[in-house]
Amino acid sequence: MGKQYKIAVVNGDGIGNEIVPAGVSVLRAVAKKYNFDITTEDFSWGAGHYVKHGEFMPKDGLETLKKFDAIYFGAVGLPEVDDTLPAKDYTFKVRTELEQYVNYRPVKLFSGVQSPLRDKTEEDIDFVILRENNEGEFVQNGKIFYPDTPNGCAVDTSMVTRLGVERIAHYAFKLARKRRKKVTNVTKSNTLIYTLGFWDKVIAEVAAQYPDVEYGKMYIDNASASFVLKPEFFDVIVTTNMMGDILSDLGGAIMGSLGLGGSGNINPEGDYPSMFEPIHGSAPDIAGQNIANPIGQIWSAAIMLEHLGEQEAADAIVAGIEHATAQGNLTKDLKGSASTSEIAERIVSFINS
Ligand SMILES: NC(=O)c1ccc[n+]([C@@H]2O[C@H](COP(=O)([O-])OP(=O)(O)OC[C@H]3O[C@@H](n4cnc5c(N)ncnc54)[C@H](O)[C@@H]3O)[C@@H](O)[C@H]2O)c1
Repeated sequence: MGKQYKIAVVNGDGIGNEIVPAGVSVLRAVAKKYNFDITTEDFSWGAGHYVKHGEFMPKDGLETLKKFDAIYFGAVGLPEVDDTLPAKDYTFKVRTELEQYVNYRPVKLFSGVQSPLRDKTEEDIDFVILRENNEGEFVQNGKIFYPDTPNGCAVDTSMVTRLGVERIAHYAFKLARKRRKKVTNVTKSNTLIYTLGFWDKVIAEVAAQYPDVEYGKMYIDNASASFVLKPEFFDVIVTTNMMGDILSDLGGAIMGSLGLGGSGNINPEGDYPSMFEPIHGSAPDIAGQNIANPIGQIWSAAIMLEHLGEQEAADAIVAGIEHATAQGNLTKDLKGSASTSEIAERIVSFINS
C-alpha cells in the first residue's frame, strides 16, 4: 500500500450533501487504482449545525481540522440563516486561521461543454485565477456607527501587507513557470491608490526576480471585459481577495456553469491542512433533487490530490471529467439531463476502466 492520507470531509449545507459524497466516491476510485489510502472523517458543520447548536462548528473545530492532511469541503449557507455568518464563522475562519493564503481557481473549458462565449474553444479558455485569500478587502475590519440615526455611517478598511503580497506573488510566478510563463496582476491601483498602489509595487519587485516570466498589470474593469472578449490573453492571474472572488464567478460562467469550478485554499508551506471546495455556494434553490452539477466538487478532489503529490491520480480525475462531458453527460445547468450521481458514476467507471 502507498501513502496514507487523512481527509476531513465537511459537506456543509444544501447541495454539499449531494456533491461531496459524489466527490468522495471518485476519490476512493483513484486511491484504489493508484495504490494509496484515503481515510475520511465526516463533520456535519455549517448553517444546519448553527440552527441546532448556535455555531457553525464547535469551538475546537480548527484544532480538530489541524490533525488532517487536507479538508474536502462543499459549501455552507441556508436561506433561513443570516448570510453574514457563513463566511465569518466557517470559510473565513478556516482560510485565515490555517493560513490558506492562496485561493487557486482554475478556469478551463471542458470538451463537450458550450461556453457562452460563442467563438471560444478549449484552447482559448485555460487559465488560473490566484486570489489572495487572507487579507485585502475581506479582513472584516470595520464598524457601523449610529446605525439607526440620520448620522449613521459605516467603514470597512482594506489591509495589504508586504508579507501577504510577496507570498502570493511568489506562488504566482512559480506556477507560471509550470504553465505558459505569463502573470497578469489584476488591480485597481488607479483609484485605490494606497492599498493597491502598494500591492502593485510589491508584485513588481517580485516580478523582477522572475525575468523568464512575462509580467503585466491590468485594471479589474478591463480584465472583466477581457474575460469575455479575449480569455486566451490570460495564463496566471494574481489578484486581491474581493476582486478574485468576483472574477472567479465570471470565470465559472465562461466555462459554461458555476457548477464546473473547482478550487483550493492552499497553505503552500504545509504548516496547516489546505481546504478544497467548488467555487459556488450551497445552491439551496436546487438542493435535494440530485440535479446539482458535481464537477466543480470532483475537480476540487483532483486539485487536492495534486497538492498532496498524487499527480497521476489527479490527472486521471480530470481525464474522467473530460471523458464524461465529451460524451454528453451533462447536468441541467448545462442543458443536459444527467443526475449528480450519474455524472459521478461515469467518472468512476472511466477511472476503473
Ligand atoms: N464557500 C462557501 O461556502 C460559499 C460560497 C458562496 C456562497 N455561499 C452561500 O451559499 C448560499 C447560496 O448563495 P448564492 O445563491 O449566492 O450562490 P450559489 O453559488 O449557491 O448559487 C448561485 C446559482 O448557481 C447555481 N449553482 C451553484 N452551484 C451549482 C451546481 N453545482 N450545479 C448547478 N447549479 C449550481 C444555483 O442553483 C444558483 O442558481 C448562501 O447562503 C451563500 O452565503 C457559500
